[in-house]
This record gives sequence, C-alpha cells and structure tokens, in this order.
Amino acid sequence: MHATKPTVLVTRRLPGAVELRLKRDYQARLNETDTLIAAASLPELSRDADALLVTPTERLDAAILARLPPSVRAIATFSVGHDHIDLAAARARDLVVTNTPDVLTDATADVAILLMLGAARRAHEGERMIRENRWGAWAPTGMLGTHMSGKRLAVFGMGRIGRAVARRARGFDMTVHYSNRRRLPADLEADAIFHADPEELLRHADFLSLHCPATAATTRFLDARRIELLPEGAVVVNTARGSIVDDEALIAALRSGRIAAAGLDVYDGEPRIHPAYRELKNTFLLPHLGSATQETREAMGFRAIDNLDAVFQGREPPDRLT
Ligand code: DGY
Repeated sequence: MHATKPTVLVTRRLPGAVELRLKRDYQARLNETDTLIAAASLPELSRDADALLVTPTERLDAAILARLPPSVRAIATFSVGHDHIDLAAARARDLVVTNTPDVLTDATADVAILLMLGAARRAHEGERMIRENRWGAWAPTGMLGTHMSGKRLAVFGMGRIGRAVARRARGFDMTVHYSNRRRLPADLEADAIFHADPEELLRHADFLSLHCPATAATTRFLDARRIELLPEGAVVVNTARGSIVDDEALIAALRSGRIAAAGLDVYDGEPRIHPAYRELKNTFLLPHLGSATQETREAMGFRAIDNLDAVFQGREPPDRLT
C-alpha cells in the first residue's frame, strides 16, 4: 500500500458521490470544468500521477501510451467498451487497464428497447408533429409504423447486454435469435436460437440489435452486402459502437426503404455524425445515452474506483483487461 494517497488524473467530471470518494481516498486531479482534454495533453497532465481514470472521449493509442510518465501504473476506464485504448500497447508497457462491466447492462438494454420502439413506431416524427403543432386529427392510416411484438429479434453479440435485451424482448413475445463467438450454455441461452454464422442470423432479423465489441473483426460488420441479407423492412438498432455499421450503406438502405427504420445511440466518429442521419425521417437518434442514468453512472464510477483500490492495495483488480 502507498504511504501517501496515490495520485489519479480524472479526465472528465464524474457524479458528485464518485468525486467525493476519489477525493477521500486519492490525490485526485479532477476536471471540474469538464473541459475535453486532447489526448496529446494527457502525458503532461499525468506528470507524477499513479493512475488515470479516463472515459471513451479520450483516445489512448500506442503513441500516447508510450509518452505517459513511468509513474503511471494503471488506467481505469469509466466504460465497459475499451476500443479507445490500445490494450496491446498498454500490456507492452505493463500498465494495468480495467473497465466497468455489469453495472451498465440494464441501462443500456433499456435504451436498446427504447430505440427499437422509437424507430419502429416513428416516435420522433410523432413527437415533432406535436411540438410543432402540426397534428391535424387522428387518422386510421396515419403514421403507421412496424409492429415489434411477436417479431424475430436478432442479437449480434450475446454478452451481458445482448442477453439483457433478449430478456426484455421476450416480454414483447419476440423470438430471439443470436450469434456470438461461442454458443452460450443452455441456462444463459434460454430459448434463444443460435446461429454460428452471423450472416445466417441476419436472415432472421426483423429487428437487429448490435451488441458486439468494436474490434478489427467487427469494423463495418453491417455493410451493404450484409444489409441485403436482412428481411425486407427490417429495423436496425445500435447501442454498441458506431464503427460496427457502414454509415453510407445503412443510409442508402434507409433512403430506399429496404430498411424500415434505424434506432441509433452510437456513431462512427461521434459526436460528429453523418449528416444524412439527421435528415432522414426513419431514424430515431440518441446522443450515446445507453448508460446515462444517475444510478448507473455512479455505479460505473464506484466500479472504476474499486479497480484502482485493488491495484494500489496489491489485490487483483476485478475487471482487469491487461
Ligand atoms: C461504455 O461503457 O462503453 C458506454 O458506451 C458508455 O456508457
């Protein structure tokens, strides 16, 4: 254990209770103005720090990791996703990297369902009509959407969040299909139908929900060729990472109506998003809100601190990635 409190550079403003615990147990360099920090400034800001508590808004590539001062032993990311950190480079530098799984599963699964319903039932068009005072009268053929209940849900990536979405979908009497690197054991699979080949999964996707990690293998997974495998009028939902979708291909399919609607919470290159998404009527768009509840963001912060505590108390961090 450290004789003095370890120093942690915290790159973003965190919920109050999380910052209080950081101040109690660490010499915390907080970002009280929540100013976005350019990755290039991190090495200088980390001078003499023992650890970094970062978020997906900081990209820690090999070049930045190589420039971190030798005092830095650990990086805790306030996220389950870790595509913003070059893990191989971190490993090569003997850095401990941890993330925050489990605690955001329910919040993110809730948003996936919100996106499915919002996209399929044209929620943003209807909401806008009300706000702009353009609602004429109820119409038997007005604003017709796509029914979600009883349809087939295809989950690509059946980890914790994918399984939580599947549980919710059963409440809508949906039949769950999934594809995953490995088939799940029977108790986790429940009644979901496994497809070893992700392209076979797509053929069953009245609704497709993406839940795989962002890796080199999943970059632009949903491209023009695979979109053609989806049933006509499918609904696509993404709460994972924007890089999994080929934006141009999805936009073309939304324009032609080949895809009925898309619900998106994450975008390639966010917060700059492809402008066509904003122009299309059949998109339901959220600004990366998957884990954005007070309870979840506090739990993520505490989980990140639990990991740092373990590192500095000489224990194995519970969510170690490297
Ligand atoms: C994550 O944790 O990876 C989310 O995208 C941010 O909540």
